[in-house]
Amino acid sequence: MTGFKVTLVGSCGGIGQPLSMLLKLNPNVTELSVCDLESCNPHGIATDLSHIPSPSKVMSYVNPDQLTDAVRDSDVIIVTAGFHQHPEKPSEDPFTVNAKIMKDIAEVCCKNPRAMVLIVTHPLNSMVPLFSEVYKKAGTYDPRRIVGVTAFDVAKAITSYSEKTGQDASKVNVPVVGGHDYETAVPLFSQATPKADLPPSEVQSLTKCCQMAGTEVTKAKGGRTSATLSTAWATNNFLNVVLQGLSGQKSTACAYVDCGDGQFFAGPVEFDGNGASRMLPIPDSITEFERQMINKSKEELKKNIKNGATFITPEWSPEKQRESKGILGEKIPTGRKEMGV
Ligand SMILES: NC(=O)c1ccc[n+]([C@@H]2O[C@H](COP(=O)([O-])OP(=O)(O)OC[C@H]3O[C@@H](n4cnc5c(N)ncnc54)[C@H](O)[C@@H]3O)[C@@H](O)[C@H]2O)c1
Repeated sequence: MTGFKVTLVGSCGGIGQPLSMLLKLNPNVTELSVCDLESCNPHGIATDLSHIPSPSKVMSYVNPDQLTDAVRDSDVIIVTAGFHQHPEKPSEDPFTVNAKIMKDIAEVCCKNPRAMVLIVTHPLNSMVPLFSEVYKKAGTYDPRRIVGVTAFDVAKAITSYSEKTGQDASKVNVPVVGGHDYETAVPLFSQATPKADLPPSEVQSLTKCCQMAGTEVTKAKGGRTSATLSTAWATNNFLNVVLQGLSGQKSTACAYVDCGDGQFFAGPVEFDGNGASRMLPIPDSITEFERQMINKSKEELKKNIKNGATFITPEWSPEKQRESKGILGEKIPTGRKEMGV
């Protein structure tokens, strides 16, 4: 599993810098394009990285003029360009700023539809539908090629669960479904492995702790940056799962994807040579608490999805998406009929 070209857009930012270093050290990445605004000087990042003795070649590009060159022949494009929410300034809506940034980036990326796109930028629940809509307009949309990175949620869920149960974190798995913010991310501790019997009150406090993880980090950093190091680490790990799939070995990780009928949802996704090929069903054995959280999450997601999609296609509505296939070609596989959308 070697020989992939990866482009990172937003490489000079809080997530971009540590992620670009992890990508330079990633043995599966043999070509790395780092791209950011001229004012942030991506050439400086590339020069710095070029002193790390690893086999990959680093090239730098300035957006907007050189984005086309940066993404050309890329296998994967990771997008971290955009701004984060300041916890003490809730009126500053990152959607307004980031939607325009993402639209401009998508309009270039959609000309290279072979590349898988991994979106990190917030609000993720809206940015993935927005990005997808640009591809639809260009006639190059393949729902298997655009995914939202929710690996940070999974990392936090694994860490909290292993700390609480005394298990080795490297052997723990906790699926996180729904969306990617405090209202929509739903860690499924009932499905965690290895299994541990946690009382409902513990599960509820762990759930809250996972949902507030991003805000906790941003607050701890005085609002200046978001969860940059842990997100960079989680994104690089997630990339490896995607690359394993692209190189022909099936792999699984949670991600936020188009499930068809205008529904986007995060859950365990199987990756193969075509990208995100299907979402695994949520088992019937989830708890009542989790089922209620998923239902609440779906209601919130409807608004987030519409917000993102209508930024590109004002006439977009879920009813008009009935024919759209998503990665499933069917409805979200929630395991129970009453939870289907
Ligand atoms: N998915 C996740 O798990 C997760 C976790 C934390 C933060 N985030 C989000 O990721 C995004 C990036 O966070 P950050 O802390 O790195 O922010 P940051 O402000 O430190 O960095 C953003 C970078 O994007 C660049 N940028 C802005 N417009 C651009 C454009 N048009 N083209 C290229 N580059 C451009 C900026 O110059 C900057 O270098 C934010 O939206 C943040 O909320 C996501």
